[in-house]
Amino acid sequence: MRIVFLGAPGSGKGTQASLLKERLGLAHISTGDLLRAQVAAGTELGRAAKEVMARGELVSDAIVLGMLEARMAEPDVANGYILDGYPRNSAQAVALDALLDRLGMPVDRAVLLEVADEVLLVRIAERSRKEGRADDNPESLRTRLTVYQDQTAPVIEHYAVKGNLRRVAGLGSVEEIHARIRDALA
Ligand code: AP5
Repeated sequence: MRIVFLGAPGSGKGTQASLLKERLGLAHISTGDLLRAQVAAGTELGRAAKEVMARGELVSDAIVLGMLEARMAEPDVANGYILDGYPRNSAQAVALDALLDRLGMPVDRAVLLEVADEVLLVRIAERSRKEGRADDNPESLRTRLTVYQDQTAPVIEHYAVKGNLRRVAGLGSVEEIHARIRDALA
């Protein structure tokens, strides 16, 4: 199974992708996690991305695509994948189609996690208190939500016209949402 997760910051993409990875044995590819690993390692790529991420803006398409291509070449991806945080704008959606066509691994399902903004704010504020992620502050979160509305929400249509979009209510317990996702993938 090859899956793309879509949804606003805090909608639960990472949480649900980790659970699906565990239960279905798929590769979980989070571009946010890949970028944070580069920042933590202090690589050139990480240094270029650090401030952009802290502001809540998108890192350049070329940087993220290069990183994704390298990850997609790893052997675990052959069993199926969950893309979490990519694509994030229309250009990335087109680039992803081309990459996956070349690899012969097209997307089976795009899952959109739908969560009201007031719930997103509560979840991110809670994580900020517990983990202190650099972009989990009110100002960066406002930017992330605007970027989502302006640049990422149009990607939903990209999958809707292909007929493989599934909308899942992202409220409730982690297990309840997981069960809805499993139904949507069936
Ligand atoms: P990224 O890491 O992708 O962040 P995001 O999209 O803002 O998503 P989050 O991690 O905040 O939320 P999530 O939907 O994964 O929810 P989660 O499961 O964590 O990207 C970060 C940055 O990297 C971007 O801003 C950009 O700069 C850059 N970047 C990444 N990809 C890029 C790309 N393709 N192109 C360019 N730049 C890119 O849950 C959130 C919280 O809620 C957690 O604390 C969790 O425990 C909690 N929670 C989850 N589910 C529930 C539930 N059911 N009930 C209660 N709490 C819950």
